[in-house]
Amino acid sequence: MPLIVTSDHLKPGMRLAKSVWACEGQQLLLSKGVILNNQLITRLVRRGIEACFVYLPGENAVEDDFLCPVVPEHLERQVRADVAHIVECVAQNRSLRNSLFQNLQESVSSIISVIFEDTTAFHYGLKNISKHDEYTYEHMIGVMTVSLLIAKEGEDTGLFSFSFQDKINLGLGALFHDIGKLMLPSSLLNKKGPLNEKEWELMSKHPYDGFKIVRQFPCMNPMARAIVLNHHQYWNGEGYGREAAGGLAGETIP
Ligand SMILES: [Fe+2]
Repeated sequence: MPLIVTSDHLKPGMRLAKSVWACEGQQLLLSKGVILNNQLITRLVRRGIEACFVYLPGENAVEDDFLCPVVPEHLERQVRADVAHIVECVAQNRSLRNSLFQNLQESVSSIISVIFEDTTAFHYGLKNISKHDEYTYEHMIGVMTVSLLIAKEGEDTGLFSFSFQDKINLGLGALFHDIGKLMLPSSLLNKKGPLNEKEWELMSKHPYDGFKIVRQFPCMNPMARAIVLNHHQYWNGEGYGREAAGGLAGETIP
């Protein structure tokens, strides 16, 4: 079974088990099967690629269900591109075109249709997502997909029932849950090891900062915004992120 290897651990001679696309999702950087050399590894690092799937020595192919994404690749690339564009505009304080949100909403609707129509989505989806949900855009899309998979499982087992708009709110809220981290210095985001008190104080603001950002997005309904604001609230009343409004517990968490 292929391994996911972070870019700082890639070595010449490793062979890609999955094509690598640029972070913004629209450009193929390297195709599946390519054998890496130093030049290619440097290029991947420069393009901000944080991890790749590589074959184990002696491995030539993968099982059918491995790497089979729960979200079709073309949709994932479209969402990445739209999200990258939105994040760039927010980071540079530029105004956002409404058409960008319309595209994003259409892509998320298509993803919801795929997930809710696929009877094996929960089983294979969680299995595959758990392999690569740690990395920036993958993390945002991974959290959105896991949230929708859990919603589907809840609906299939009779625990919940969601309108299509609920699913859109859930998908968009999960997609942008960490957007407040744009306000944090990258030295803090990339810090290895525990945060000191001052750093923790900054980090704990990201849910509220994210809420302030997304309330400017026309596609983010109150429930989608509430997901961003409350994503670090714990059932027992602990957690963080609502400095301006006080903590919540149990079913008072939206
Ligand atoms: Fe967060």
